[in-house]
Amino acid sequence: MKKLVVLASGSGSNFQAIIEAVRNNELNIEIAGLITNRDGIGAIEHAKMNRIPVNVINDTDWDDFKLKLIDQLQKWQPDLIVLAGFLKKIPPEVITGFPNKIINIHPALLPKFGGKGFYGLRVHEAVLKSGDTISGCTVHYVNNEYDRGRMIEQKEVPVLPSDSPEILAKRVLKAEHELLPSVIKKLIT
Ligand code: GRF
Repeated sequence: MKKLVVLASGSGSNFQAIIEAVRNNELNIEIAGLITNRDGIGAIEHAKMNRIPVNVINDTDWDDFKLKLIDQLQKWQPDLIVLAGFLKKIPPEVITGFPNKIINIHPALLPKFGGKGFYGLRVHEAVLKSGDTISGCTVHYVNNEYDRGRMIEQKEVPVLPSDSPEILAKRVLKAEHELLPSVIKKLIT
């Protein structure tokens, strides 16, 4: 069975969507583990509830973080690495060590509203400010530039005149939970 490793720094709702897809037999993959740079986050709770191994790697020392990340990935040997709200740049050594095996989900229709600083509500604020009537999410390969790796698939959602950044974020997140497991499925089969 193919192996997946998830990297997350937040609530982990996308991670949970992957867990549910596995549980419902929509995804035939082993989740080898969760790697995070933050303790006490929701993603860790999801991992614990599902008996998925967790490695919290402190990121205050970049070189140490890099070595520990590489070491853990070499131990788990994933076929696919999914960044699901991971707020840390992936070291170039990891990108070259796992070619075409690292994907990220972004809460907008890239190439718009991506790059350094475009995360969380800032993305949706920018979308609303732009006047765009369609937003959505993008799954793409990870390269050395934030949100600039080759796109794999997008899912659109409408932007409504009454939207606040929070309301738009919720609508996009729901689309993310559908898009991410379905892209993983395509990539592993
Ligand atoms: C998602 O909006 C994702 O697109 C972005 O970070 C957020 C993570 O949310 N990269 P969650 O932790 O999966 O709930």
